Amino acid sequence: MVAHLSKILSDSEKVFDFVVNEGHGVKGLCDMGIQELPKQYIQPLEERITTSTVITDDSIPIIDASNWDDPKVADQICKAAQNWGFFQVINHGVPIQVLDNIKETSHRFFSLPAEEKKKYTKENSVSSNVRYGTSFTPEAEKTLGWRDYLSLVHVSHDEASLFWPTSCREEALEYLKRCDTVIRKILKSLMGGLNVKAIDEEKEQLLMGSKRINFNYYPKCPNPELSVGVGRHSDISTITVLLQDDIGGLYVKKLETNDWIHVPPVNGALVINIGDALQIMSNDKYKSVEHRVIANGSKNRVSVPIFLHPKPTSVIGPLQETLKNGEKPIYKQILYFDYTNIFFSKGHDGKDIIEFAKI
Ligand code: OGA
Ligand code: NI
Repeated sequence: MVAHLSKILSDSEKVFDFVVNEGHGVKGLCDMGIQELPKQYIQPLEERITTSTVITDDSIPIIDASNWDDPKVADQICKAAQNWGFFQVINHGVPIQVLDNIKETSHRFFSLPAEEKKKYTKENSVSSNVRYGTSFTPEAEKTLGWRDYLSLVHVSHDEASLFWPTSCREEALEYLKRCDTVIRKILKSLMGGLNVKAIDEEKEQLLMGSKRINFNYYPKCPNPELSVGVGRHSDISTITVLLQDDIGGLYVKKLETNDWIHVPPVNGALVINIGDALQIMSNDKYKSVEHRVIANGSKNRVSVPIFLHPKPTSVIGPLQETLKNGEKPIYKQILYFDYTNIFFSKGHDGKDIIEFAKI
C-alpha cells in the first residue's frame, strides 16, 4: 500500500489520474495514509485563510423561526439578506433526526468503493443530473480543492428513481421533501421584502423551478493550512439551504470589507445564503456573498447544501416589483442557462460572474 502511494505521488499526472479519473477522490488519497499535500493542492498565499483576514468579534445572524407567523421573523430574514447575505435559522421545523440522517447518508455514500462512485463521474454517469466528482472543475482549475462531492439535480421523482444512486436516493428525496416548507417560508419572507405579495406559479418557477442537492465530503487533510476545501465563490442559486456538521470551516466575507467570518456549527441549524440569481432579481437589495471552506487537519467534514434556482430556460433580471418606484435596473434580462454555463466552465474566482449580467 505504502509503495503504491509513493508511486502515485511521485508524478503529478498520476495524482490527477488517481483522484479525478479513477474516481478515488481526495478521500482515496486520505485512505492511503497520505502524509503530505500533493503540489496541485497547494494554494497560492493569497487564497489561504490566515488569522489576519479573519475577525472574531462579529457573526452572521441567528434567526429563531419558532413562530413563522411572527412578522419579526420575516423582517429579520430580509435584514440579514441585505446586510449579510448569510444567516442561520434555528427552530425551523425540520426535525433533528432528519438532519442527522442525511449527514449519515453522506458519510455512507463516500465510504463506497471507488469503482462504485466512479459510475457517476462526468464520463460515466448515464444522467447529466447525477455527478460525482472532486474539487470543483478539476480540468479548469489551477489549484485543486480538498473536497469530493455528489451532486443530484431534482427534475422529477421518476427521473430520480431511475438515475440517482440507490445508496442515497430515498434519503435525498426525503430530505428535499422535509425541507420544502422551510424553503417556501424563507422565499416568501424574502419576496415580502421586495413587495412581491404572493408567490404565484410563475414566481415559483423563477425562485425554485430547479433544485440541486449536493453532498460535500472534506476529508482530513495532511496540510490544512496550505489548502482549501472550496475556494472563494458565491452561489448562483436564488437561495442555498446548507446543513453542516459540527466540525466547522465555512467562512463568509463580511460585506464591504476584506474580513472573513467563521460560520460556527450550531446544532440543529440550517445555514441560509442568498445566491447571485436572487441578488439579480432583487436588483442588489439582497446580497450574494463570497464564501469558502477551509480544510481540516483532524476530522472528515460533511455538508449538504440544497441549491434552489430558476430553470435553465428561465430568463432572469430585476423583478418588476423592485423597479416600481423608479429604481434603475442594474442587470439585464439573461437566460439562466447562460449564467450556469459560465459558472461551471471555470474555477472559482470570487464574485466575478455577476458582472456578466450587468447592464
Ligand atoms: C457550496 C458551499 C459550503 C460548505 O457547496 O457551494 O459553499 O460548508 N459549501 O460546504
Ligand atoms: Ni457555496
